Amino acid sequence: DLFGAERKNAAGIDLNDPRAVTELQQAMASAAAESWAAGPIVGGVAQTGSERRIVTNPADRGQVVGEIFWATPAQAEDALSRAQRAAFAWNATPAAERAACLERAANLMSAQTPRLMAFCQREAGKTLADGIAEVREAVDFLRYYAARARAEFATPLSLPGPTGERNEISLQGRGVFLCISPWNFPLAIFTGQISAALAAGNAVIAKPAEQTGMVAAEAVRMLHQAGVPGDVLHLLPGDGPTIAAPLVSDPRIAGVAFTGSTETARIINQALAAREGPIVPLIAETGGQNAMLVDSTALPEQVVEDVITSAFQSAGQRCSALRVLFLQEDVADKMLTMLKGAMAELVVGDPALLSTDVGPVIDEEARQMLEAHKALMAREAKPIYEPALPATTAAGSFVAPAAYEIAGIDVLEREVFGPILHVVRFRADRLDQVLDSIANTGYGLTLGVHSRIDATVEQVYRRLPVGNAYVNRNIIGAVVGVQPFGGQGLSGTGPKAGGPRYLHRFATEKTLSVDT
Ligand code: SER
Repeated sequence: DLFGAERKNAAGIDLNDPRAVTELQQAMASAAAESWAAGPIVGGVAQTGSERRIVTNPADRGQVVGEIFWATPAQAEDALSRAQRAAFAWNATPAAERAACLERAANLMSAQTPRLMAFCQREAGKTLADGIAEVREAVDFLRYYAARARAEFATPLSLPGPTGERNEISLQGRGVFLCISPWNFPLAIFTGQISAALAAGNAVIAKPAEQTGMVAAEAVRMLHQAGVPGDVLHLLPGDGPTIAAPLVSDPRIAGVAFTGSTETARIINQALAAREGPIVPLIAETGGQNAMLVDSTALPEQVVEDVITSAFQSAGQRCSALRVLFLQEDVADKMLTMLKGAMAELVVGDPALLSTDVGPVIDEEARQMLEAHKALMAREAKPIYEPALPATTAAGSFVAPAAYEIAGIDVLEREVFGPILHVVRFRADRLDQVLDSIANTGYGLTLGVHSRIDATVEQVYRRLPVGNAYVNRNIIGAVVGVQPFGGQGLSGTGPKAGGPRYLHRFATEKTLSVDT
C-alpha cells in the first residue's frame, strides 16, 4: 500500500461529550499537580545543564509551571559523538523494527493524551481543541512515517537487468540529523521531524524551541520508552546561537530539518554552505503571507466561519493561518458586518476552559510585537474591529483578535504571527492584479478560495505558487497523509510533511548491481 490508504488517523477526544471532557480535565489537572522539571536528554539519560530556567504559564505569568535546564556545549558534543556512533547500527536495524518503535511511541502518546495536553497548555497556551489536535497530529506523524518506512525502506526496489545483472536500489539513512522545531506546534512538528528522520534510518539530535523544551522532553521520554535507543535520539534544549548554530556548522551533521522563520532558514542554509564536509540537505518549513479570496458567489455564512477559524484559531499562531482576506467589493460590506458579529462572539481567555476560543500568545515578546503592529495599523490602516481584552486576561500574554482594512497585501512588510487579520477589497475585473500582488510577496504556503465559479477557482489555483490550496473551506489543520503540508518560495523547501515523499529527503540512495 504505497500511499497508506489503509492507515487510519487518530480519533482524538470528543469535546461534545461532557463525560469525556470531565475525565480529560481531571487527568490534565493531576498531570499539572506534579512538579515539572526537564533538561537535556543525552544517551537516554536526563541531565542537568548550564542554565536553569523557570517556565511560566503564558495564560498567567505569575504561575510557575516548572523548571528546565538548557544544554551545555559539552553535552552537545557528547550527544553528537554518541549519535554518530549509533547511526550506523540504527540504519542497519530492519525498517520494520524502526517502524515498530515509532508505532509503540504513537500508542504511548495516544494513551497519555491528557498529560501531553497539560504540557501543551501550560507551557504553550494551547486550548483544549488545539491540544487534542496537537496530540493527534503527533500520533499521526509517528504512524504515517512508520508506514512509509515499512513500504519503502524495508526491501530494495528491483530494477530491470537488461545486461544480465541483478540491479536494485535502496533507501538508507544519511547519518545524524539535526531537527530544529518551533514553539507553535511543540509536540506535533517536533515529533514529525524526529519520527521522519528516525524512520529513514538516521540518528537524531533534537533542538526544540526555547519556549517549549518541556513538551519536547516528554515526547523524547516516550520515544525512548517505546524502544528508540538512547544514543539514537538526544534532546538539547537551549537557544539557537549556543546550541543549534555550532551543530549546523559541524560536518558530522548529515542533514537539517527546520521549521521556523524564513530568516533563520536562510542563516542555516548559509552556514551549511560555508562549512567543511559533505553537502547535505536542509528541509525547511517557514512562514507565509496567506491569502483567501472571496467573490460574490461565495456563501457568506460559510465564509465567516472559515475566516474565523483560519485567522484566529490557535490565536493565529499557525504558519498556515489566514493573514490577508480579499473580499470582492460588491459583497465586502455585508461580509464585514457579519465578520464583526462573529468576532464579537470569540471568547479570549484561559485555555483550560472549554468555553475559550482564543488562548494566549506564546510570550511577552510576541505580545509586544503584535500590539506594536496593531498600533501601526490603527494609525495607517482602517480598523474594522478592535475589541479590548477582558479583564480576566490581565496576568497573561493575551492579544485580542482584531481586523484592519489595508490597501493591498504589499503594505505588509512581514508575516504577523498572531490573531490579526488584514482585509483588502478588490474589483472583480482586477482579479489578475490581485493575484499578481499575492504572488509578488514571494511566499507560497496556504491559499483559500471561496467561489462557486469553477473557472475562477481554476484561475486562482493555476496562477499562485502555493503549497496548500483550500476551496470553500478553512485553510488550517492539514491532515497527515491526507493533505501533505508545506510551501514553496519563501515558505519552504519541501518535500511535504505528512506526504508520501517526505522521508526521501531524509535518506540517501544506494544502487547495487550484481553480475549473475
Ligand atoms: N500544519 C499546520 C496546519 O495545516 C500548520 O503548521 O495548520
